[in-house]
Amino acid sequence: MKRILFVDDEPNVLEGLQRTLRSQRHEWEMAFAPGGEAALAMLAAAPFDVVVSDMRMPGMDGAALLEIVRQQYPSMLRIVLSGYTEMEASLRAVPVAHQFLLKPCEPNTLRAAIDRATSLIEVLNSKMMVSLVGAMRDLPSLPRTYMELRKALADPETSIAGVVRIVEKDVAISAKILQLVNSAFFGLTRDISDIKMAVSYLGINILQNLVVSVEAFRMFQPKKSIPGFSIEELHAHSQLVARIAAHFSSGRKLPSAVVVAALLHDVGKLVMAERAPDHFARAVSGAREEQKPLFAVEEELIGISHAEVGAYLLSLWGLPYPVIEAVAHHHHPSRVRQHALDMITVVHLSNLLAHETSGDSNRGIISQPIDEKLLQDIGVVDQLPEWRQMAEAAAHEPQGV
Ligand SMILES: [Fe+2]
Ligand SMILES: [Fe+2]
Repeated sequence: MKRILFVDDEPNVLEGLQRTLRSQRHEWEMAFAPGGEAALAMLAAAPFDVVVSDMRMPGMDGAALLEIVRQQYPSMLRIVLSGYTEMEASLRAVPVAHQFLLKPCEPNTLRAAIDRATSLIEVLNSKMMVSLVGAMRDLPSLPRTYMELRKALADPETSIAGVVRIVEKDVAISAKILQLVNSAFFGLTRDISDIKMAVSYLGINILQNLVVSVEAFRMFQPKKSIPGFSIEELHAHSQLVARIAAHFSSGRKLPSAVVVAALLHDVGKLVMAERAPDHFARAVSGAREEQKPLFAVEEELIGISHAEVGAYLLSLWGLPYPVIEAVAHHHHPSRVRQHALDMITVVHLSNLLAHETSGDSNRGIISQPIDEKLLQDIGVVDQLPEWRQMAEAAAHEPQGV
């Protein structure tokens, strides 16, 4: 049973939550606190897994409460549930909240958000990671443009033009998005010259996810240099994996989100390099010395690798579940029973194929070998030579425009 604490100064909001979430009571143990001080007293009395807090409250407000929670209970998930007009104030909570929800919040949205956050803890099942990520102060909040997009999209009044404006406001992001859209990734035969066209060809969801993948690379800037690891090389590698994944998806019925999953598959490395640089440096040098795949050394050291850390971050950011799953399992596709080439296997294979090519920039890092048994099980092993050629060609394709 997950223990969830809701905090709001308005009794009718708490009553409303209690009423609408009644059906959850066999899965969640819920408690309701009328303010920050009361919440802290309840937390001190018994542990909770998730805290969902209002922002504007007399006395201790949401940001102050969540900051204390972050310090004292770093493994707890912190969610802000606030009114639109409080959004301004909520920005103060950006460094301290994992996720934002807008009031009034549909019970289903709230349920889904909490479920996603809690089930991921179960799926990834690692106290280590929860405390690792929880301790990383401003890490898991949503990238800015992505957050604005999500807010806008939650508002039924938002027009396509409004969405386009949000993306275009950030010139660097728009340029990067257009470059991605016009590269081989999406197999579009037309030149996409502006964001509006990109939206009409790819849809808002893909656009939103592309924004995340662009922003993720921009928001992590490791302060320490880590011998054997470079962001530029990771970026190039991620783009190559995405190009290979795009080749896989042409002619197959794979969602275009596979490209997003491929772009983000190693986002956990960015997180680790910035937020746990000493640990990550130890893993990178260990991988070189022992000639083992990086993820295997990470797992030996702390039981989890950049794959789970990346997936955890993306789940808190609210990316689509298939993307999160593909990122989480990109080194262990067999954790999920495979029947066909789905997103998980495609991202997994694209990554390994990229490592094999002469154009991949992850030089000196040993990769796991391609598991032919897995390919046999899904009846595609005879296609491997062809895929190797395709990957080699992708490694030498011009990158975007
Ligand atoms: Fe990886
Ligand atoms: Fe990779």
